[in-house]
Amino acid sequence: MFLGLDLGTSGVKALLVDGEGRAVGSADATYDVSNPVPGWSEQDPADWIAGVSAVLAALKSEHSQAFDAVEGLALSGHMHGAVIVDEAGAVLRPCILWNDTRSFEQARAIDSDPAARAISGNIVFPGFTAPKLAWVADNEPDIFAKVARVMLPKDYVVWWLTGRYVTEMSDAAGTAWLDVGARSWSDDLLSVGGMTQAQMPDLVEGSEVVGDVQPARADLGLPATCKVIAGGADNAVAACGVGALGEGQGFVSLGTSGVVLSGRDTYAPLPASAVHTFCHAIPGRWYQMGVVLAATDSLNWLSRVTGQSAEALAKGAGDTLQAPGAVKFYPYLSGERTPHNDAHVRAGFTGLGVGTDSADLTRAVMAGVSFALRDSFEALKATGASLETALAIGGGSRSDLWCSMLATTLNIPLERPEEGAFGAALGAARLAMCGVTGADPASIMTKPPIADIIHPQGSLVAAYEDAYRGFAAAYPTLKAMP
Ligand code: XUL
Repeated sequence: MFLGLDLGTSGVKALLVDGEGRAVGSADATYDVSNPVPGWSEQDPADWIAGVSAVLAALKSEHSQAFDAVEGLALSGHMHGAVIVDEAGAVLRPCILWNDTRSFEQARAIDSDPAARAISGNIVFPGFTAPKLAWVADNEPDIFAKVARVMLPKDYVVWWLTGRYVTEMSDAAGTAWLDVGARSWSDDLLSVGGMTQAQMPDLVEGSEVVGDVQPARADLGLPATCKVIAGGADNAVAACGVGALGEGQGFVSLGTSGVVLSGRDTYAPLPASAVHTFCHAIPGRWYQMGVVLAATDSLNWLSRVTGQSAEALAKGAGDTLQAPGAVKFYPYLSGERTPHNDAHVRAGFTGLGVGTDSADLTRAVMAGVSFALRDSFEALKATGASLETALAIGGGSRSDLWCSMLATTLNIPLERPEEGAFGAALGAARLAMCGVTGADPASIMTKPPIADIIHPQGSLVAAYEDAYRGFAAAYPTLKAMP
């Protein structure tokens, strides 16, 4: 038996799987995000510990026999968060999360040093870890002076479980302190923000064993032989969960945010396109992704303003793909990451007429998000990543119409997995399996069973291509709007 824990922004999910990777049981716990100041987003690491303890206790009570046979566990975690601790391991301030934008000035300053993009392979976004520490240095110098270690969120839980300060490549890649190509801490990048290697956790690969559960955690009731494996960053681990490891293997996610991700066998950064190039959670691989900040979030916004549920809106938009309509939507409700890296641009509708109804608006929102994902897809292609097909995952992929629009816009078939337990919790369990058994990740991290394949609508590909060109050309106008 193996355990995968998905430490997300709003809660933690635990998945217990057998030796074949089949789900045996799962448990969830939630926690809050605090926004003490607009743009700030923080979490108390103690809440993660409470959540992890609760899901483990639930699994132990509901599946005691399977729980007692757990050979290894691993965590997937939300990226970039800065957990800072003193010499004794005490948390010095709440964790500053990935979606906290307070350190935009520090990010701009670090990013303006050409070494940053050259070594880290990425734009230094305000959400990354290095600018957060620079913000603490500028604004909370007394706390900064006490920082003995910096950990990523899931690594704090690993430290609590094992007593070891360890991180792995996929999460370290999102700090802006890692030489992402060489898979090692960069003294040059660390020194930009006054940090040292001594403050960094030891670096391992995501499928490596970190250690045993320490005696102080005996009350969790995990078997004495249970190993803790390093785990990985959420998107990398989700990719492990759906078998997206190397060239040509990837997914499109229609979640709160939208992601186009491709596994890579080589390191091929292209920071100017705002594509993320990060180490994969398994050795010798990387992955690249483009991020659309508001995907289903755009439909949820329309749902709030129209007073109709997102499901009702999707149903009202019909099942059959039609040619793109006159109403257009630009989904920049929270700005945009790929390819524009623009926190300030805002969304817009155009082409509204007196006859426009909520079905037109819904189709426009689905099309706008599809076009924004096409932007990311093009940015990925520019790095050399080539996806001839992709898995479609995330809540929005349940809509036949949205999937058909997306497949036609990207002009590739989209494969929808069967309903069930997959994603980051499964990916984490698979990393645990690799760590304990030493199995080749490719033999464990296979594609899920496919329920159906949504093909591009051949007769509409050209019309969607034209509409996409119009969408891409409109960005400078939106950017210039006061
Ligand atoms: C990736 C990113 C998110 C977070 C939260 O760059 O910011 O995927 O890891 O899910």
